[in-house]
Amino acid sequence: MDYYKLANEYQTPFYIYDFDKIKERFDKLKNAFKARKSQIFYAVKANSNLSVLKFLASLDSGFDCVSAGEIYRALKAGAKNYKIIFSGVGKSIEEIEFALNKNILYINIESEAEMFLIEQIASKMQRSARISIRVNPNVDAKTHPYISTGLHENKFGVDIESAKRMYIYAKKSSFLEPVGVHFHIGSQILDISSIQEASKIVSQLLRELIALNINLKFFDIGGGLGVCYKDEQEPNLYEYAQGILASLQGLDVCIGMEPGRFLVANAGEFVTKVLYEKCNGEKRFVIVDGAMNDLLRPSLYKAYHEIELLSDNIKGNLSLCDIVGGVCESGDFLAQNRKLAPTKTGDLIIVKGAGAYGFSMSSNYNTRNRVCELAKENDKIRIIRKRESYADQVALEVEYLKD
Ligand code: LLP
Repeated sequence: MDYYKLANEYQTPFYIYDFDKIKERFDKLKNAFKARKSQIFYAVKANSNLSVLKFLASLDSGFDCVSAGEIYRALKAGAKNYKIIFSGVGKSIEEIEFALNKNILYINIESEAEMFLIEQIASKMQRSARISIRVNPNVDAKTHPYISTGLHENKFGVDIESAKRMYIYAKKSSFLEPVGVHFHIGSQILDISSIQEASKIVSQLLRELIALNINLKFFDIGGGLGVCYKDEQEPNLYEYAQGILASLQGLDVCIGMEPGRFLVANAGEFVTKVLYEKCNGEKRFVIVDGAMNDLLRPSLYKAYHEIELLSDNIKGNLSLCDIVGGVCESGDFLAQNRKLAPTKTGDLIIVKGAGAYGFSMSSNYNTRNRVCELAKENDKIRIIRKRESYADQVALEVEYLKD
């Protein structure tokens, strides 16, 4: 790929996603579960660009949404309402009404209070709401604490005993129809034994529910599959699937999966341009035109992203540097302590593994325009989101007029 040509045509910084790679990952995951009924619900939050969603919908993906906004996006991208599910600890009345009006597949409930509210709203609408309960199995996903969600100390889901009580209640309600059970214990999980342990615990609940004549169709194992950013060993999908299937022996359910990162992280790159180099005493900085507002993961989680320097004339020895943006925060870096050859203004730096939680977590901090997004498919490149303008940024603000 000629990054310089792209940089000339679209300016920098930009994100670029390889749709062929997304398809490869989608097929791989789907195949691992081919022995059973399964449905992938792509976690929209990872990368919610409409073209990415539309492409995934064309592969028959469903969508896991965590806000009415994400449901809106999925529908706009052409998703079928019966392939959309809605998760999240803090759904508002308006969002629940929106989801019920759109008649999505089911809502993943995260508290008893939320269940009562959904029941009330559904009763007002004179209809029944399909629900699933997110169980918090109290299993340690052994990942970054900010993205661990399956322990009782995390805010997500309800404990097994509460879930059971809630299913019994829901089964009796005229306005709730329990159709599934859900868990998601964290993100960037490399040791899948924790997901398998959670699956065992939750499948036991499923068996107890069957004994109570509560029959669920969906066993939703969430997302969380870790990917390789540096030298991590990605989980073996065959073992992953076997572990889940083993816990479901004798149960006739459709396995729901909510992968985000697994499908898109390594299909995306963030491309930024070198502006300056400088040394503060011994410390070397390479200052680029991309920053933490464009790609927050390094600043927020100290996440590692592979860096590649593209230069038409690399001269000199490698030395350690931080690659930093122009935002007024010391925590604004894309990479720290990396060995890089001397750079010059106009060189390009490719930040790898940026397809998930990259653009979707970007902001306008420091009144910086959000960057443009490109897609590559069959060697053809197209723009899928234009670069913002300053006018876009102020468009919703209301002029202050003194009384
Ligand atoms: N399902 C639920 C209910 C979730 O909360 C998440 C992610 C997923 C699925 C998708 O997880 P994945 O397959 O992508 O691991 N911003 C962080 C990641 C936050 C994940 C939040 N929940 C990061 O940049 O690492």
